[in-house]
Amino acid sequence: MQLRENRASVSASLLAADFSCLGSEIKRIEQAGADMLHYDVMDGCFVPNISFGEVILESIKGLVTKPIDVHLMIVDPVRYVKDFAAAGASSITVHAEAAEDIVPALKAVRETGCLAGISVKPSTPVEVITPYLDLIDIILIMTVEPGFGGQSFMPEMLDKIAAARALADSTDRHIYVEVDGGINGETAALVKERGADLLVSGSYLFGAKDPAAAVAGLKA
Ligand code: DX5
Ligand code: ZN
Repeated sequence: MQLRENRASVSASLLAADFSCLGSEIKRIEQAGADMLHYDVMDGCFVPNISFGEVILESIKGLVTKPIDVHLMIVDPVRYVKDFAAAGASSITVHAEAAEDIVPALKAVRETGCLAGISVKPSTPVEVITPYLDLIDIILIMTVEPGFGGQSFMPEMLDKIAAARALADSTDRHIYVEVDGGINGETAALVKERGADLLVSGSYLFGAKDPAAAVAGLKA
């Protein structure tokens, strides 16, 4: 396996923010140098938890200066693609497991002008993405079971990240390999070596005493 020393972009997961002061939390994490804001939508069905929907996104979009990276952990995501695009999303990622046929959702995302992403849970092989490579800009590898922040990174996902990078590099376009779950200073180095170039981080960043140093550590 080829190991890399790439720099990566950082997408800060708002799920770990203090919701009682979301506006100042967004400012704080943007000033710390986050490249994007990661917005986790959970429906209590595709995953056990319920988080927030397009109404909250609509209300914060005016405050956000960075691209908003929407991660839909919901069944039949095609139903909500237009709403999240209108509410301010820059990219929308759907799960390969979330519909019998995920192509209409990916096409709907592209039609809105947002970047389109596809995500796989830890138990889903990355190869299921192969038929969709022409329709996507992001492969999101879950490095925890989706549904909750603050879980531990699953090291057994490292080979899958390398396989995702190989799939992405088999195309003639840039496709991000994004990783989500348990990313901190140590696990960031491991995933970047495997070719991840977009790192989601929630509890580590929002809980950091010095968020700017934490963001810089993840990128470097
Ligand atoms: C989990 C979410 C993640 C989560 C990451 O289902 O998709 O984006 O917020 O949180 P941390 O970085 O705390 O693992
Ligand atoms: Zn996420």
